[in-house]
Amino acid sequence: MRVLVVNNEKGGVGKSTIAVHLAWYFAERGKRVLFLDLDPQSNGTTTLAAHASHIDAAALFSHPVAIPPIAKKGIRVLGGSAALRGIVSVDSKLVEQFRANLADASQSFDIAIIDTPPTFGVRNLAALIVGQFVLAPIDLDDYAIDGIETLLKHIVGVRQKYNPGLTFLGLIPNRLQTTSPRQRKNLKSLVQKFGTKYLFDGVIPQRSSIGEALAEKKPVWSLPKTAAREAGRELRLVFDKLAAKMEAA
Ligand SMILES: Nc1ncnc2c1ncn2[C@@H]1O[C@H](COP(=O)(O)OP(=O)(O)OP(=O)(O)O)[C@@H](O)[C@H]1O
Ligand SMILES: [Mg+2]
Repeated sequence: MRVLVVNNEKGGVGKSTIAVHLAWYFAERGKRVLFLDLDPQSNGTTTLAAHASHIDAAALFSHPVAIPPIAKKGIRVLGGSAALRGIVSVDSKLVEQFRANLADASQSFDIAIIDTPPTFGVRNLAALIVGQFVLAPIDLDDYAIDGIETLLKHIVGVRQKYNPGLTFLGLIPNRLQTTSPRQRKNLKSLVQKFGTKYLFDGVIPQRSSIGEALAEKKPVWSLPKTAAREAGRELRLVFDKLAAKMEAA
């Protein structure tokens, strides 16, 4: 089982949007997907309600959990809940329990996708410590760019200190307003500053059909409108590259 963490401590950058679409994407490609929602806001859990299980993600930190396997392709959600707010101390026992539970599930699933909360706490840290891949959605506001250095410091710090096997898939600009000169300028300076080492080779434009799809709890590429299909095509192109990058790692 590959473990992919979608992470940025900044709120509202598209972590859950991308995480749920990745779950749909991999399930459609025949994979058995485990979706872990470490955010008590539980947006991803709500969107993927059709795939809910009776287990909360919070349980993974406290005791051994037998995650029901999936026989064929599909998605199993371990949902976010208020109990996650109780996981605050950076306790190695919590992290080790989390790691052991994921290890136990590793034969039953092909990929785990972990959606994280917009804070840099122990749940975030645990995800990065056990993960093999991390993808960091960013937005292109001026203030957001200031936060990117901190984000990179955290990811690189975890890799050096706890998890040398963590592959950084890159910062992925999301909600790019293609006609905004300011955003294009910010994107250009990001490319100059971080280059191909830290920047993912692709962007996700701002598309209103993405919000509509989430409201319907469906992947954007499944909505019948032309605009949605186009947005879906853009998103899948990015995911194809991401999947190839994971295969190559
Ligand atoms: N590419 C996009 N085009 C249009 N809307 C988008 C896009 N990506 C995300 N959104 C919208 O932006 C909002 C925030 O996205 P999302 O909830 O995925 O962010 P998040 O990083 O998970 O937030 P939080 O940190 O609060 O968990 C949502 O309303 C979502 O529908
Ligand atoms: Mg979210």
